[in-house]
Amino acid sequence: MTDAMPGKSASMMIVRAIKELRALLSAQRSAGKTIGLVPTMGFFHDGHLTLMRRCRERDGVVVVSLFVNRTQFGPGEDYQEYPRDFERDTRMAQAEGVDLLFAPTEHEMYPAGDATFIEVAGDLTARLCGAYRPAHFRGVATVVTKLFSIVEPDRAYFGEKDYQQLLVVRRLVRDLAIPVEIIAVPTVREPDGLAMSSRNSRLGPRERQAATVLYRSLLKAQALVRGGIRDASQIVAQVRDSIAQEPLVRLQYAELADPETLAPVERVAGPALLALAAHVGGIRLIDNIIIGG
Ligand code: PAJ
Repeated sequence: MTDAMPGKSASMMIVRAIKELRALLSAQRSAGKTIGLVPTMGFFHDGHLTLMRRCRERDGVVVVSLFVNRTQFGPGEDYQEYPRDFERDTRMAQAEGVDLLFAPTEHEMYPAGDATFIEVAGDLTARLCGAYRPAHFRGVATVVTKLFSIVEPDRAYFGEKDYQQLLVVRRLVRDLAIPVEIIAVPTVREPDGLAMSSRNSRLGPRERQAATVLYRSLLKAQALVRGGIRDASQIVAQVRDSIAQEPLVRLQYAELADPETLAPVERVAGPALLALAAHVGGIRLIDNIIIGG
């Protein structure tokens, strides 16, 4: 199916060096093509492929970056265990009509002695995942800013699955006046509702089954709101109760927040973000929906 997609290039180029990527992109830019960027950490699934498709539909050149970014993992987190399969990713990206796969080395992204980082301060990074992963969004903001500086994309595509990340990226783009349009792509789910994630591959069969409670708990909360319940603590209590039924799942947080500022919401009076993080086995998963809209 993807073979027939317009704009599909005959062969995808794999580029490791910033200098080479810049030269290739400047030629494309001079030829009048727009450049789209899909930043990833690889181990592709349908969520990543959907971002690539949205990019293929709109932009003349599709650049996918693949870099497992050490600085966004905390001590004791799963940087070493993060799933990697470069050959498979290459085939999948090629099949989606990606033009350039930028897979930089560690040294290319973080030269020895580097001392600069990007920090988005305030609620956007202090709340939700930021409360449990203190340096995470600094790592994300720094690598994404660097990717924007290298690729200079017209548009960049991010998934709503990582909703807080999307807000952090939008804020840094605004605050630093980076000339890129951020396109948000809705969460892609497995048929049973589990949000696709590279980390799902690390779940055993029992954990994989148990993980379905996350999205089910969000849907139950949505049903409560549709039934007229507006009190945040009641809605969140329902999420906690559903997840408590599943012994393999340990909730880290479930919170209702303003979908733009992430400020806490006490009463659902308009669209509100319901976000959660939980450990299933040893694997940390996140999910969210917008309710009350
Ligand atoms: P990664 O987890 O590989 O995700 C890359 C992109 O795919 C992100 O924008 C993410 O939100 C999106 N994505 C992941 N799962 C999705 C799903 N089920 N539906 C829709 N989109 C989904 O997010 C990162 O990498 C990194 O933090 C990165 C931005 C690359 C910086 O290192």
